[in-house]
Amino acid sequence: MTQTQQTWSQRFESALHPTITRFNASINFDIELIEYDLTGSIAHAKMLAKCGIISSQEGEQLVTGLEQIRQEYRQGKFNPDVDSEDVHFAVEHRLVEIIGDVGKKIHTGRSRNDQVGTDTRLYLRSQIELIRQQLREFQTVLLDIAEKHVETLIPGYTHLQRAQPLSLAHHLLAYFHMMQRDWERLGDVYTRVNISPLGCGALAGTTFPIDRHYSAQLLHFEKVYDNSLDGVSDRDFVIEFLSAASLIMVHLSRLSEEVILWSSEEFGFVTLKDSCATGSSIMPQKKNPDVPELVRGKTGRVFGHLQAMLVMMKGLPLAYNKDLQEDKEGLFDGVNTVKACLSAMTILLGEGLEFCDRRLAEAVESDFSNATDVADYLAARGVPFREAYNLVGKVVKTSIAAGKLLKDLSLSEWKQLHPKFENDIYEAISPRQVVAARNSYGGTGFEQVALALQAARSQMEVN
Ligand code: ARG
Repeated sequence: MTQTQQTWSQRFESALHPTITRFNASINFDIELIEYDLTGSIAHAKMLAKCGIISSQEGEQLVTGLEQIRQEYRQGKFNPDVDSEDVHFAVEHRLVEIIGDVGKKIHTGRSRNDQVGTDTRLYLRSQIELIRQQLREFQTVLLDIAEKHVETLIPGYTHLQRAQPLSLAHHLLAYFHMMQRDWERLGDVYTRVNISPLGCGALAGTTFPIDRHYSAQLLHFEKVYDNSLDGVSDRDFVIEFLSAASLIMVHLSRLSEEVILWSSEEFGFVTLKDSCATGSSIMPQKKNPDVPELVRGKTGRVFGHLQAMLVMMKGLPLAYNKDLQEDKEGLFDGVNTVKACLSAMTILLGEGLEFCDRRLAEAVESDFSNATDVADYLAARGVPFREAYNLVGKVVKTSIAAGKLLKDLSLSEWKQLHPKFENDIYEAISPRQVVAARNSYGGTGFEQVALALQAARSQMEVN
């Protein structure tokens, strides 16, 4: 019979089947929670002593024993195996080994159900803080690059067809804003992670005169669950986190896709530095964008964890059901995946790629992405926009047939098209002017972009 089974075996006659022991156990993955489990138990012990449920000397013994387990764990000396079932039993057993029978008092007035909920929330709280910090670092890198490229032009696309040229800074700032929403969203999720279920007991509360607010305060929880059933069975916060994490991955994946396209020979807008590119085992000329490809590929894992969690929850009657043990691996993997992708992308953007100014300049010169500006030119001189649009459509068609660009038309050709054209049409359709002219709020005009950069810097100062 295993250690754990000895804990609850008085009601049982024979031991659990070894395969079922392994099937039932979560220790292989919930050991990740150990530091939070210890912290939670210490707060619980202090609360029990403060409320006179155990003596203050007993409280101190419990705390000392729990701190010793923390040291043992940090020194690699505490490695519970599958016999312990889960991290909560593992800690309790070790506590009894260290301090004797007093250790058996730690579980007074609580259950593993409120305990695991507390641990998961403490874990997620600190992970959210780390991820928000990483988002800030990534945003800083985006802003640093954007600041260097306000006047660098890049083709802008819709339907992946050349649409209108852009300031490269404007393009990068779009990602800054996505990350800003991600940062804010995680802050919002945090408020619902930051609620204490400790003391909800198995499902109904406890007969002991505990002080849930006190243990919550020791653990820096903002508030406590008002309903014990809800407290032990709520995993909304895990789902909310995975949803926010999925959006971060969507944003990183879209950027990855762009970097992959940009680094292809066909686009040639960026080159990958050797520190962030990989080679092929057979084609010596290759330099592959593995980093953004992996980020794009890993995105599906996080979506999968979100989906798994939603499905796991949807049919659960109140309150705790063992299905809930399945919340952990997906959550941990979701957290680890987002963190790994954020740091890889921060390195890739910060030091792993270079924009090819020459290719970008050639690209914006060699297309019809200034066609709207010809129509706008006429519209600004009184020609109804739709009429102007149709005229320009015609001239684009004939120019393509003649192998010309709009800038190659002579003034008399322009005048033939419409008498309102003057010599200043050439300036109006130069890519630089095309970008500069889009000076509406939130547009790509250089003045707007400079203002947007300033605003972005001050958004970063908010914590
Ligand atoms: N290992 C369990 C989990 O992760 C801890 C809670 C067990 N509670 C129970 N009633 N069996 O969910």
